[in-house]
Amino acid sequence: MKIGASSESDSNEHRVALVPETVERLVKAGHKVLIEKGAGTIAGFPDVSYSQAGAETVSAIEVAKSVDVFVHIQPPTTDEVKALKNGCLVVSMLNARNDASAVSALASVGATAIAMELVPRIARAQRMDVLSSQASISGYKAALLAANALGKYLPMMMTAAGTIPPAKILVLGAGVAGLQAIATARRLGAIVEAFDVRAAAGEQVESLGAKFIHPPTSEDAEGSGGYAREQTEDEQHVQRLFIKEHLANVDAVITTAAIPGRPAPILITTEMIEVMQPGSVVIDLAAESGGNVEGTAPGEIINTNGISIHGPINVPSSMPFHSSQLYSRNVMALFDLIIDKKHGTLNLNLEDDVIDATCVVHLGEIRHELNS
Ligand code: NAI
Repeated sequence: MKIGASSESDSNEHRVALVPETVERLVKAGHKVLIEKGAGTIAGFPDVSYSQAGAETVSAIEVAKSVDVFVHIQPPTTDEVKALKNGCLVVSMLNARNDASAVSALASVGATAIAMELVPRIARAQRMDVLSSQASISGYKAALLAANALGKYLPMMMTAAGTIPPAKILVLGAGVAGLQAIATARRLGAIVEAFDVRAAAGEQVESLGAKFIHPPTSEDAEGSGGYAREQTEDEQHVQRLFIKEHLANVDAVITTAAIPGRPAPILITTEMIEVMQPGSVVIDLAAESGGNVEGTAPGEIINTNGISIHGPINVPSSMPFHSSQLYSRNVMALFDLIIDKKHGTLNLNLEDDVIDATCVVHLGEIRHELNS
């Protein structure tokens, strides 16, 4: 088969969907790989590394019109979609739950599409789980952003001029990103506390050397698929009072709370921010889906009374070498499931849990109900 990837059209997207390591595996398996010239340069993968891995570097349209499998990070451009061969398989993050436009465009040209963000959170699919691989990078980067923005040391420092106490960091939401933020902040020597509405997160938080905090009366809010359920108004009220008590004593807060298919829950209101000490830092990793902090501006840093509130967007793209490498490995794991090794052809078993959940379009037919 011919398999290819092109550059991402969004100027803030620095990742590339296939890296040379994956290209080499595909070429060894007998496939022909086409990569757009320059597609991996910003991520740290120059054209020569693709050529050495056995790929051919060509124009974006040449890739789109030639391949049987087209791999992307974000949906392909309109011109690429128009150029696709009938029945081409597109593997990409498609934001299919929130925006039907990319899926509809692919359906209109008779394509088949796999939305990588829909890989189910089951043990068998862990190697394909782009939400986890990319969220882990976001969590790591969030701790570094907090460290960088704080005018303080994170570790305790014993200097000739006296001892500096360690910084205190509060992490709200201890899923994949939150746990990585905790681990990174701990490695840098900070004292870390974390809160999550899922009781199961407590053990994971403690295993990283952080303290799990929660309101005394809180109920476990684990919903389906291991995700959190939405909180009632009463629960939100109790949580906010509880979080507010902790805000006055921390140097930085990293928020990562999310509920699948819903806007991010507001955990910190403007009034709560006022209790924080001047010089404190808030990193709102949920900025793109509405923010966990009232007043977060996506892609901006807002200063209020000496407290800076950061709303970083597309954080994995800020570490494009490893985020591309992990994404590409996730895609390769998917290929292991959908490419028949013996014949080198596609074998999409729509009854397989992973394929059923991710295959949003099959030969032009939309298989999932989508929000427009
Ligand atoms: P996510 O990105 O949907 O949410 C992040 C965190 O926010 C979650 O831990 C959630 O409980 C928390 N949260 C939601 N509302 C909150 C609130 N009001 N206050 C505080 N925290 C709140 O979740 P993520 O990180 O994608 O993982 C969700 C679950 O899936 C976790 O249990 C994780 O361990 C599990 N998982 C399982 C995998 C597998 O078995 N293959 C792979 C990855 C994750």
